Amino acid sequence: MSLEDYLETAGPYLDYVADLDPAGIAFSAGVQQYKFEANWKFQVENTIDIYHVAFTHKSWLDILSDKAGKRIPFVRNMTQNEEWRTLAFPNGHAVHEYRSIDPADQPEEIDGGHDVGIGELLPFNMVIFPNLGFVGAQLRIITPIAVDRTRVELYPMVLPSDPAGSEKALRDHEAFYGPAGFGSADDMEVAFERVTQGLEATATPQDWVLIARGAKREEPREDGVRIGRSTDELPHRSFYGRWRELIRAGADAPDGMVQP
Ligand SMILES: [Fe+2]
Repeated sequence: MSLEDYLETAGPYLDYVADLDPAGIAFSAGVQQYKFEANWKFQVENTIDIYHVAFTHKSWLDILSDKAGKRIPFVRNMTQNEEWRTLAFPNGHAVHEYRSIDPADQPEEIDGGHDVGIGELLPFNMVIFPNLGFVGAQLRIITPIAVDRTRVELYPMVLPSDPAGSEKALRDHEAFYGPAGFGSADDMEVAFERVTQGLEATATPQDWVLIARGAKREEPREDGVRIGRSTDELPHRSFYGRWRELIRAGADAPDGMVQP
């Protein structure tokens, strides 16, 4: 399968990333790496799950609100802003969008980012199945080491034509994702490692983690893309649906291997 066929309708989002700067994106800021004791798919979920921000990163939202002198409207946008939405593409790719990337839909002036202070060069979070992510100002690669151990590499994107904007995005990125930042520590302890411990508890044989939020209100588009609301678990259904297809195909394949 060609890359174009694999990306299919998710392709324009990668084009958007590539077109952030006419001179091309630089990765001159280096790479930030971390490991955690949990399955790699938690980090995939986390890349395209917005609602965890409201509670996992509540202390960060409180700090941003204190600095702004008013409550930042993240939760209100998440629950009420119809521009914030989720999209599921064929082959398991998924996006959470803060505003449309369609050139015909662009406002005359873009009023800031999405107010979460992580270096918002991109108006969306995206996962290209299975393990390539884009969030804020970074490209993210998620690598499984073992079933319960994961390595993640974050590459901040630098725009050569906008040194001042890139500098601000990098400082914001550091504040949230850096070694002394507020965000990654929350995610690793609460969203990955404590959730792993919680999943080891079994009360009944029917204990399943449901990712059904918004399943009944998914809106299929003519091109096969499915649209959901901001807090819907549509991206997760997209990812795990493709994952299940591949696992089942692998079980049937003579050598247990299939190509994504
Ligand atoms: Fe997070």
